[in-house]
Amino acid sequence: MKTATIILAAGKGTRMRSQLLKVLHPLGGKPMLWHSLREAQQAGSEKPTVVVGFQAEQVKEAFGDQILYALQEEQLGTGHAVMQARPQLEGQADLVLVMLGDMPLLQAETLSRLIEMQRTNPGPVSMLTVMADDPRGFGRIVRSPAGEVEAIVEEADCTLEQLLINELNISLYCFRADWLWENLARIPLSAKGEYYLTDMIAIAREQGLPVQAAAIADPQEALGINTRVHLAEAETILRRRINRAWMEAGVTMIDPAVTYIEAGVQIGPDTILHPNTYLQGDTAIGAGCEIGPGTVIRSSQVGDDCRIFSSVVEFARLEKHVEIGPYAHLRKGAHLGEGVHLGNFGEVKNSHLAAGVKMGHFSYIGDAEIGENVNIGAGTITCNYDGKNKHKTVIEKDVFIGSDTMLVAPLHIGEGARTGAGAVVTRNVEKGTVVVGVPAKKLKDVDHEGG
Ligand code: UD1
Ligand code: CA
Repeated sequence: MKTATIILAAGKGTRMRSQLLKVLHPLGGKPMLWHSLREAQQAGSEKPTVVVGFQAEQVKEAFGDQILYALQEEQLGTGHAVMQARPQLEGQADLVLVMLGDMPLLQAETLSRLIEMQRTNPGPVSMLTVMADDPRGFGRIVRSPAGEVEAIVEEADCTLEQLLINELNISLYCFRADWLWENLARIPLSAKGEYYLTDMIAIAREQGLPVQAAAIADPQEALGINTRVHLAEAETILRRRINRAWMEAGVTMIDPAVTYIEAGVQIGPDTILHPNTYLQGDTAIGAGCEIGPGTVIRSSQVGDDCRIFSSVVEFARLEKHVEIGPYAHLRKGAHLGEGVHLGNFGEVKNSHLAAGVKMGHFSYIGDAEIGENVNIGAGTITCNYDGKNKHKTVIEKDVFIGSDTMLVAPLHIGEGARTGAGAVVTRNVEKGTVVVGVPAKKLKDVDHEGG
């Protein structure tokens, strides 16, 4: 049986008090809607249909053709929203799963369970509910004395007695597709001037058809986000889930409450994460690493057995056994070879440091190619920018750069050469030679001048 998924996201989300559409607010580093999409896909809907209204263009920009779009120009209610998906979906699937774009914690297993419930349901719809003491303004599930679901009543329409019901509607339904499309038009206009999807339950019952409803196993999954307070609650739950999964996969966290790993990050076993570590974007960490405290790694690849201590690493690549920090900054295009050591206050941008390079203290390397086992003395700077253009520095293997050397690019330093402390190197240095002074000259020439 084929299942199509509809995610309702046409509302503006006024209570977020934001310029940004609610479902585009970041959660775990990804737009809120991303999470629902991923779970729906895992539950078997390749291309969910998202009903968009406000800021439809921004949603399309964020998700492109990963999903289908149905435009709801006027927000005339949840039932009306589902109607907008009919032209695309009618005849395409046997079952239709409907969910809200602001319930990002629902998990694929839960969606699969609901789909399974509907597969064996002789009636046209199954739904999941939540048992809760705080009704949060949710619709109430009205059951007959025999326990059969009769209707969903919106809070505003509840009798005093119905207000006491603690089984709530979370707007998660699975419909038999042909029945849904046939009966959607039967939804009456509400007092508020909207078409409520919730009325489909009473419509089924009027036709004498059974409705299946079961409470969700973990009520946390049903957290709907209406305000930024709810968003922060969801963030905490999501972080706990992600961190638990990594700990179960062999990653040590000194304090998971303050370890921030975005969805989509990869981490090898026996890696230790210290507090206040942020692993973000498209990041992959190898096995046996030690990271943090106080470290941010964004969209970077880190090999096995690396040590990254109180540092910032962005769009960079580290081979195995690299050691950096405290207070190192790797920027876009930094590539550190095996065994590279970068001490405090080292900055590297758009440069390759080959295996065994040592750069212990206070240095900036930008737009450079550094050969194997080069030693970069404290305070060395590649002067790569002349105010207009960036220039390249090439340092061949086994070079020794003395402390506080200024390397004025474009520059080439031959294999095994050395620069003296405080040298300002403005011209290429030949293999095996030693240059000193300002501007730097070959030590032999300096000797001649001196005597
Ligand atoms: C809805 C349910 C309620 C349930 C609650 C939480 C209805 C009538 N009520 O109420 O029983 O307890 O969700 O699950 O369905 N949307 C559209 N187009 C519209 C209206 C809404 O796309 O015309 C989307 C919104 O973007 C939002 C979602 O549907 O994500 C829910 O809409 P909202 O108006 O907030 O419904 P609730 O009052 O919360
Ligand atoms: Ca709502």
